[in-house]
Amino acid sequence: MDQLVFFTREDAWSFAMGELGALSGIRAAPLAPGAGILSGQGDLALQVNGIRPLFIRHIHPVQTHLEKEEELPKAAGELTASFEGARIAVHAVDLTGERREGALLRLLLESPALARFLCGPEADFVLSVTRAQSGFYLGFSESRTMLSPRAGGIYRYAMTPETISRAAFKLTEVFDRIPLALPDSFEALDLGAAPGGWTRVLLERGARVTAVDPAELDPRVESDGRVLHYRGLSQEYLKEAGGKTFDLLVNDMRMDAFESVRVTREALPLLKSGGALVITLKLPEKGSLKKAREALSRLGEETRILFARQLYHNRSEITCVAEKP
Ligand SMILES: C[S@@+](CC[C@H](N)C(=O)[O-])C[C@H]1O[C@@H](n2cnc3c(N)ncnc32)[C@H](O)[C@@H]1O
Repeated sequence: MDQLVFFTREDAWSFAMGELGALSGIRAAPLAPGAGILSGQGDLALQVNGIRPLFIRHIHPVQTHLEKEEELPKAAGELTASFEGARIAVHAVDLTGERREGALLRLLLESPALARFLCGPEADFVLSVTRAQSGFYLGFSESRTMLSPRAGGIYRYAMTPETISRAAFKLTEVFDRIPLALPDSFEALDLGAAPGGWTRVLLERGARVTAVDPAELDPRVESDGRVLHYRGLSQEYLKEAGGKTFDLLVNDMRMDAFESVRVTREALPLLKSGGALVITLKLPEKGSLKKAREALSRLGEETRILFARQLYHNRSEITCVAEKP
């Protein structure tokens, strides 16, 4: 019986279960809020990747289950012994609430048997340890099979006085994990821009931004010469936009996912061919999986979807990255 640990948002557990239901002969059990263990036959990571999950953030295989922390270095040494010279990162997640990730990382990184090839945080191979009430789950795998390159799929950013909104972290997370081919300076259309967190992130990456929202923008964004604020609804803007074209279209509008896709499709003529789109699709409390899949299918009728997932910074929503053909 093979096993893997998977991570999801605590309140997205039932949607993750709905997705995993597509796999036959597997059993999922909760490990802690927002994490579970999957048991079944064969390459479970391949199977999970194959269903292209929206609500599973990260996975790692379990080759060894241990009860005592001090047993970790020896077991980790054995798992990685034949990979001398490979670039290996170490991930630790503590699901017990005691936040011992740092101690676990130190224990592994300072072990003489492992010191020769550990680096981090992102690498081709990953040694993962997840601590739960039921013990330590240790696994070694290729990073590209794990759905995200970070431990638990967790992207932590600090709030600073410059942070305009927590929403900004969603777009930062997209830029941190998905390579978008954007020129050094580019034109971006930001639908649902207020108070300006995404606009700010775009400015930092070299954009000139048309920010569309009936609400006020933060003065630090509003006063920036590279920002044009259209103070109205996106639907109105699209009627008046004229011939301006954009390299990137982002949409964080708070509205029903189907309506958001509809408005996005209406905006596509303004996006250059090959241009990228980043959209958050807001989901209802019930029926999220069905709604998300249908919304993506509608978006996919006119765009090439590159990525769709509930990111670490998404709440009741998923993020989709697509390209205009
Ligand atoms: C989650 S907030 C956007 C946060 C923003 N991305 C940031 O980083 O600061 C959602 C925004 O969508 C805007 N919105 C809702 N419906 C809209 C519409 N039809 N047209 C334009 N903006 C809309 C709201 O006014 C609100 O400011």
